[in-house]
Amino acid sequence: MPAPNVRPRPKVIVTRRLPQAVEARMAELFDVELNLGDEPMTQEQLADAARRSDVLVATVTDEVDAAVFSAASETGKLKLLANFGVGVDHIDLGAARAAKVVVTNTPGVLTDDTADMVMALILSVPRRLAEGEKLVRAGEWHGWSPTGMLGHRITGKRLGIIGMGRIGRAIATRARGFGLTVHYHNRHRLPPEVEAELEATWWDNLDAMLARVDIITINCPHTPETHHLIGARQFALMQRQAYIINAARGEIVDENALCEALAAGKIAGAGLDVFENEPAIDQRLMELPGVVLIPHMGSATFEGRQAMGEKVIANIRVWVDGHRPPDQVLEGWA
Ligand code: DGY
Repeated sequence: MPAPNVRPRPKVIVTRRLPQAVEARMAELFDVELNLGDEPMTQEQLADAARRSDVLVATVTDEVDAAVFSAASETGKLKLLANFGVGVDHIDLGAARAAKVVVTNTPGVLTDDTADMVMALILSVPRRLAEGEKLVRAGEWHGWSPTGMLGHRITGKRLGIIGMGRIGRAIATRARGFGLTVHYHNRHRLPPEVEAELEATWWDNLDAMLARVDIITINCPHTPETHHLIGARQFALMQRQAYIINAARGEIVDENALCEALAAGKIAGAGLDVFENEPAIDQRLMELPGVVLIPHMGSATFEGRQAMGEKVIANIRVWVDGHRPPDQVLEGWA
C-alpha cells in the first residue's frame, strides 16, 4: 500500500495569547508553540522564534525589527509573518522583503468595532462622560443642577476625519446618524458616489480642515509620512473649542505637543485609545481636564478578536497550500 501523502505541519510560533478557540484550531492544524504566559517577548526571544519557526504570528506589542529578520535569515526557515492585527508599523517591512518573508495582516474584521469606539470617544469627551463617572464614584455628586457638568452638543458640529479608509468611512456613516457634518482629509479623494453617500467634504489641505472643524479624529496608518502629523503647529491652527480623538496610532500625534496644547487651552480636549510610548502614558495626560484615556481597546471585542484569529489561520493555510495569502501586505516577491 502506498504511503499516504502527509505534508509536515508548519512550525508556527505565536507571540501572545490568542482567543482560546483560535489557539485550539491552530493546535489542530499546525505544529504550534503558544505563549501561555502571555508576557510580550523580548527582542532575543523574538529573534529565537524567527530562527525556529516557518510562520511567526506576531502582534502590535512585538517590535519585529531588522535584527529579528536577520536572525530569521540565519536559518532561512521563516517564510511567513502572519500579523494578528491590521497595523503593521511595528514590522520592518523593508527587512521582511530583504529576508523574503511574506507579511500578512487582518484587515476588515475590526472596522466596525474600532469605528464604534471612536464614536464612543467622540461622545464621551465633549459630554464629559469620564469626569461625570468619576464624580459619582467619588461620592462627590450632590444632585442635579441647572449648571452642573455642562459639556458641548454633538449635533450640528463639524467632524474632520484624517484618513478615509475602511475605518474612516465607517465613522462617517455613524457620525451622520449623530447629526455631525463630515469632512475628511485623505491622500486620495473618494469616488464622487462614495462622497455623496457619506455626505463628506474632501479637504486637500489638512491645515485648512484642522482650522475649520470642531472634532478631529485620526484614522490613518502610522508611516514615516504620518509620524507626528499632528504637532505644535497643527494644534495652533485648531479652534480653541476643538477636540481631538486618536484610535489609530499614538505616534501620529506628538504627545508632548498635545499635552502643551491642552494645558495652554489651545484645544478643549482629547480622547485617546493609543499613545506614543505604549503602555507608558505622559503623566500630564492623567491630570489634564477634558481628557478621556482608554487602553488601546478599539478592536477589543470577542467577535473581532475571534475574526482576527480566523484571518491569521486562513492566511497561513492558503500560504501552506502554495498560494498567495489573501491579506498579503507586500507585493512582488512572494
Ligand atoms: C491593530 O489591529 O492594528 C490594532 O491596533 C490592534 O488591534
